[in-house]
Amino acid sequence: MSDRTNTAPNDLRAFWMPFTANRQFKNAPRMLASADKMHYTTTDGRQILDGVAGLWCVNAGHNQPRIVEAIRQQVGELDYAPAFQMGHPKAFELANRLVDMAPQHIEHAFFTNSGSESVDTALKIAIAYHRARGEGTRTRLIGRERGYHGVNFGGISVGGIVTNRKHFGTMLGGVDHLPHTHLPDLNSYTKGQPEHGAHLADELERIVALHDPSTIAAVIVEPVAGSTGVLIPPKGYLEKLREITTKHGILLIFDEVITGFGRLGAPFASDYYGVKPDMMTTAKGLTNGVIPMGAVLTTAEIYDAFMTGPDNMIELFHGYTYSGNPIASAAGLATLETYKEEGIFENAAEMAPYWEEALHSLKGLPNVIDIRNTGLIGGVELQPIEGAPTKRAFGKFLKAYEKGIFVRTTGDTIAMSPPLIINKEQIDQLIGTLAEVLKDED
Ligand SMILES: Cc1ncc(COP(=O)(O)O)c(C=O)c1O
Repeated sequence: MSDRTNTAPNDLRAFWMPFTANRQFKNAPRMLASADKMHYTTTDGRQILDGVAGLWCVNAGHNQPRIVEAIRQQVGELDYAPAFQMGHPKAFELANRLVDMAPQHIEHAFFTNSGSESVDTALKIAIAYHRARGEGTRTRLIGRERGYHGVNFGGISVGGIVTNRKHFGTMLGGVDHLPHTHLPDLNSYTKGQPEHGAHLADELERIVALHDPSTIAAVIVEPVAGSTGVLIPPKGYLEKLREITTKHGILLIFDEVITGFGRLGAPFASDYYGVKPDMMTTAKGLTNGVIPMGAVLTTAEIYDAFMTGPDNMIELFHGYTYSGNPIASAAGLATLETYKEEGIFENAAEMAPYWEEALHSLKGLPNVIDIRNTGLIGGVELQPIEGAPTKRAFGKFLKAYEKGIFVRTTGDTIAMSPPLIINKEQIDQLIGTLAEVLKDED
């Protein structure tokens, strides 16, 4: 039993922080008090320029009036409604607006509360879809090395980030992985899509031959891999994955949790790259990060495969207490409206070339070994300190925070994904401050 007698109001002990070095943080906390547009304000009153859109989610910038007002109104009108065998108008309206925004072949939305839930939902739908069509042997799932698909058991099974997997036992059976697409000897300092690496999609043919197509349900990849340190798809790679999956009757799932809602200057990466997946997993930017919500977007072919049997029967035995929650739905509707009315995706597309040039100006600074970018995403990879992986990048993150900018590190890569409302002066401030931090040889 813990000793509760000395628990002060601001005691930091109880909160077991996610994906955080708890002891380091609690010794030197970085506390945020408020946020507006491109900035956080810390509890000690400092302004911090947000270079990560919170956590790749606040695409329209902080404190957007439409979203704030929509939530205020909704909570006083209908605070909660169950989504099982009951409905409320805003969830249906949001599904329609989402489908309108998605590529044309996408016609349905299944609501979740996070990216991890979207991924596990999509994997389950894939397996159940094949079963519903009489191909119940298709149960295998193919992910990719270095992939990140959230933290639930399905997601870490198809994911390929070793630290997220190795502590948690055997995970799902019947999973295989494509090779990752990072080819530093051939592609370093590429602006946008690398030239080399499309051939890595051919590995799918080898995996399919090994297991036989009749056992494989789906392939899931991030169109742009973020959490592993920003890996941009090589030219032709996603197209090849689409070609091979179609040939073998395998569903292709794009995990668009970070690429969805304008990150590349188009609504989704599928639009940007012109490749049509069968399902897309989304979350984060769906509500501008304000309220947890995710959605799996699917084709009519997938949805229709379930709409058989007696019509009083539940077709998919899956869902969450908060699927399509009214407040999240109201936030989602206001967010999509904000993206449209404020021209947020257009600004991302307009800023992307300036972002690219600014980012690549960091080439040549001490310990920088690669720079990668697309849309408003940037990765700056650093030479790890020998025997202490991640330490160099984390040190830079701390220094950057002291100097008033918020970046993120993953391994020894500094990853940035600012709110899509960023302007040129703010790009200069973000990259200029990062340059100062990188100039120190430590
Ligand atoms: C591609 C991808 N999928 C899934 C997730 C998981 O999302 P969540 O943290 O909302 O569960 C993330 C989170 O960063 C992500 O980047």
